[in-house]
Amino acid sequence: MKKPKIVVLTGAGISAESGIKTFRDAGGLWEGHDIMEVASPEGFMRNPQLVLDFYNQRRRQLSEVNPNAAHFALKKLETKFDVQIITQNVDDLHERSGSKKIIHLHGELTKARSSIYPKLVYEIGVKDIHIGDTCEKGFQLRPFIVWFGENVPLMEKAVDIASKADIFIIIGTSMQVYPAAGLINYVQKDALIYLIDPQIPDIAPRENLHCIQKSAVEGLPNLVDELLE
Ligand code: APR
Repeated sequence: MKKPKIVVLTGAGISAESGIKTFRDAGGLWEGHDIMEVASPEGFMRNPQLVLDFYNQRRRQLSEVNPNAAHFALKKLETKFDVQIITQNVDDLHERSGSKKIIHLHGELTKARSSIYPKLVYEIGVKDIHIGDTCEKGFQLRPFIVWFGENVPLMEKAVDIASKADIFIIIGTSMQVYPAAGLINYVQKDALIYLIDPQIPDIAPRENLHCIQKSAVEGLPNLVDELLE
């Protein structure tokens, strides 16, 4: 008997209670930095050291944080459902909480890539990337992150997965960054949609949308227990 499919779209909010800052909350992660300065190809061209340092700090923080009850609740869902996580987050907390099927739409902090050959990708864990670190073809390494203005290679796969969801759960995203925020439009009309966020983002009203105005840790474990009943 095939398990019903649950697709989960997560954003920075699911990692907030692990101590990782979100982007757009007051004093958000970009504090002191203009987004385009540290998360765009132009910014990297202009000041590679600043960009490498920004991501080195974020990567180092991974060793100081842990998955929270929301991440573990998603793992628990796998007992009865076919769970596919589509995350905008670049941290590895979904992996570390044991979730099996994870797509990182915006890249991963624990990887580096060639600044010239996008397919040359290297696992670096929490290590820094320095100026002068190069790929096998001799070109500067950069964070394996999808920057503003760059295309989202995994989006087509994410759309296909979202279109097959029986249940779609949105957790901790302001739904302001496209194309990720557009995934909800590919969810079938008769699918159940749950949205968990202490500040419900402004999205188009639709059938079967249940908003839970709570933090991920307060709201997700209870929802998971309900779904597992
Ligand atoms: N639990 C659940 N949601 C929370 C919590 C929490 N404890 N704390 C904050 N939130 C919510 C906020 O209300 C907001 O809706 O998480 C959301 C965070 O939104 P953003 O900071 O915009 O993060 P995100 O939506 O993931 O940003 C998308 O934008 O900056 C780029 O590439 C970056 O992946 C990122 C993308």
